[in-house]
Amino acid sequence: NVTEEELLADPVEKVASVGGTRHPSIPLPADLYGAARGNSEGLDLQDAMTLEDTASAIAARADIGTAPTDSTVAEVHAAIAAADAAFDGWSRTPVDTRATALDRLADLLEEHRIDLMALAVHEAGKTIGDALGEVREAADFCRYYANQARTGFAPIELPGPTGESNTMRLEGRGVFACIAPWNFPLAIFLGQVTAAVVAGNSVVAKPAPQTPRIAVRAVALAHQAGIPKDVLKLVIGGAEAGNALTGDPRVMGVAFTGSTGTAKAIARSLVADDVRPIVPLIAETGGLNAMIVDSTALPEQVIADVVTSAFRSAGQRCSALRLLVVQEDVIDRTLDMLKGAMDTLVVGDPADPRTDVGPVIDDAAYRKLEDYRLSVKDRWLHTIVVPEGRFVAPTVIRLDRIEDLTKEWFGPILHVATWKTGTLDETIARINRSGYGLTMGLHSRIASRCERTVAAARVGNLYVNRSMIGAIVGSQPFGGEGLSGTGPKAGGPHYLQRFAVERTVSIDT
Ligand code: NAD
Ligand code: ALA
Repeated sequence: NVTEEELLADPVEKVASVGGTRHPSIPLPADLYGAARGNSEGLDLQDAMTLEDTASAIAARADIGTAPTDSTVAEVHAAIAAADAAFDGWSRTPVDTRATALDRLADLLEEHRIDLMALAVHEAGKTIGDALGEVREAADFCRYYANQARTGFAPIELPGPTGESNTMRLEGRGVFACIAPWNFPLAIFLGQVTAAVVAGNSVVAKPAPQTPRIAVRAVALAHQAGIPKDVLKLVIGGAEAGNALTGDPRVMGVAFTGSTGTAKAIARSLVADDVRPIVPLIAETGGLNAMIVDSTALPEQVIADVVTSAFRSAGQRCSALRLLVVQEDVIDRTLDMLKGAMDTLVVGDPADPRTDVGPVIDDAAYRKLEDYRLSVKDRWLHTIVVPEGRFVAPTVIRLDRIEDLTKEWFGPILHVATWKTGTLDETIARINRSGYGLTMGLHSRIASRCERTVAAARVGNLYVNRSMIGAIVGSQPFGGEGLSGTGPKAGGPHYLQRFAVERTVSIDT
């Protein structure tokens, strides 16, 4: 370990290795395929088509038709009844058969990637790079959960006295409600569904009301892949359909991704009566995600990672950077460089391959973010000019204190505060005290600082010397704690178990 004083005295010789992956080159926001690669290694879609061909194929699919109508409460109940009836047969289907359907689904997702990307662009406002990331991540979830189920759901023989056999096995729970947000309308939607299905559950899935078309398409592909129609039912709508789903006593588990407020409402609905079984809620929610930067960090890498983490996907990622906390000594330099980098961002049409930052999801989100941005105009440190439309200008806002950020602003709005030398532990403790615990970042070349942050950060995903978004399935299991969720990690080795019951059978032979 080196001290900060030693490092500053001799920065080249004494740079500490802090482990982890350092980007070999800085991914520029405009490098769409390079940036999208964050979601999945090994699936090289760019070889199949050039970026220009991809963009024109997506532009040609701008007509995405009318949205499906919302399901009535009676239709939600009918979907639950069908899934309930299908459960027994599916739970007895060999795990390898269930896993094979997921492998087939991954292949189909890749085969139909252009259609799916077009829906992500035209329905959800995703940039082309982000849309590609959606397909990659969804396919990764399928293949990863298929492999996890094959190995992790094999019965376990346990020791016992002579003449007794003890076996433990994992089985589906029943009907799982899967409720998804709009910001990953394919990857998170299918991540929940495939985990629940391969674990032996039947599913009633509800996408966000903003993004039903891509869900309809994904479910059709899942059926084509071999998941029976009654094992996977789709319902459409918002809070009313969601309430009807989680309030039904035949639902034996809920996988939810969305806001903290909705997760709490669902938790309450699950214990609303004394008769209903106690069922698990897997909730993955929002965050007040901070990145701490010290004076030893590589400035160019800091700026590239801040721009990616705060502004990519128009800041509409739960993992996105909301609060940059910079050591006082380097705040001026950091802000100067950040302003320069922001000025190069291209904000506009998500179907244009040059675009870095697309629109926010809908008019309500635009109004909320814009009202907030304008209400703190006296604290703007930087913003940029954006076209007319649902485009929120990437903006940096000064905070006097870390504690002044109390709400997740789900857009390209970055808050900045400072910390003084000698107060790292206190700074981490103050960030922890928000009660959220999703992502945190640290940029430092001092090994002891990295170790202290690893020990003290109360977050599900800590990123050191890299960006804070784009968790890779199987490498960076993703999910938060505290107000950010109930803890299970999507794309991690323990996720499927959360969808299952464990049963032990002891037989005296
Ligand atoms: P949201 O909570 O408004 O909606 C999420 C889903 O819940 C939608 O399908 C919605 O229709 C449904 N819903 C709303 N009220 C319901 C109710 N009473 N009962 C049942 N279902 C109900 O969230 P959103 O605006 O779609 O998504 C943005 C939020 O999601 C942000 O807070 C973001 O941080 C969070 N998010 C978290 C993760 C994660 O992995 N931790 C990932 C993506 C998004
Ligand atoms: N898994 C998504 C990310 O890491 C939310 O950005």
